[in-house]
Amino acid sequence: MGAKVITVALNKGGTGKTTTVQALAAGLSQMGKRVLSVDMDSQGNLSVAMGAKRSGRTVYESLVTGDDADAAIQHVNYGDMIASSPRLADLDTVLSRTTAKEYRLKEAIAPLKERYDYILIDTPPSLGAELSNALTASNYVILTAQPNSFSLDGIDMIYRSVIQPVQKYTNQNLRILGILLTRCKKNTSIFKESLEDFSSIAKEMDTVLFDTSISDSVRIQVIQSYNLDFFSKSSGCTALGEYADFTNEFLDKIEGER
Ligand SMILES: Nc1ncnc2c1ncn2[C@@H]1O[C@H](COP(=O)(O)OP(=O)(O)OP(=O)(O)O)[C@@H](O)[C@H]1O
Ligand SMILES: [Mg+2]
Repeated sequence: MGAKVITVALNKGGTGKTTTVQALAAGLSQMGKRVLSVDMDSQGNLSVAMGAKRSGRTVYESLVTGDDADAAIQHVNYGDMIASSPRLADLDTVLSRTTAKEYRLKEAIAPLKERYDYILIDTPPSLGAELSNALTASNYVILTAQPNSFSLDGIDMIYRSVIQPVQKYTNQNLRILGILLTRCKKNTSIFKESLEDFSSIAKEMDTVLFDTSISDSVRIQVIQSYNLDFFSKSSGCTALGEYADFTNEFLDKIEGER
């Protein structure tokens, strides 16, 4: 069967992409699933959050020189991971004169798919070669958004300028699994209004707004600042409970589509 490949994306910065990949990797590996996370962002936030080294082989070598991605795999807090390198920021320039530059990641992870149930890809807040490679390699994309108009504009832009072209030219199988609202202040009227706006943009893109949304929580920032275990001592933290619910919703949706 091989792994299902899922990219988490939005060109707008700070919308919870990395945190969502970390939560899914933690939740799925706790359930006994075999998970490989791939950090396609030169910022390396996911690599750091997962306790990976950023020296030695990273995803960059596999993309640029075609090195065996197997050699870049590290065992980390939640399953396995391929870390990113700061050099990924030059990917667009480095690949600019090559053909089929969108297919590099797909080719790199193809031999690894039999060993995992899920391959999760974190992407940067931009619309370059890292994103087009991730989407070309994926079965699904999850869009993470904060409940505000900038995120709404970001969704419109990523859909028109990258997702639709990828679906047309490089990966006809790519589906948008859904939009996840993060960092929500749920008792505000702006949040309640956002639910309608994001549901209707989801409908226009033939996808859904996930039933679960994630509350704004200092605990998430503490976990990431001190490199703590994601779900330990989760009792009493609304956002961590919501990420556990989201992991279940994610599994129900994906397994329902098999
Ligand atoms: N639910 C939450 N509540 C409070 N803070 C959060 C939450 N989710 C993420 N954060 C914090 O918000 C910041 C941005 O989150 P994150 O890095 O996951 O976003 P991102 O979309 O990956 O950002 P970038 O676009 O820079 O890659 C981080 O400092 C993170 O700790
Ligand atoms: Mg990030």
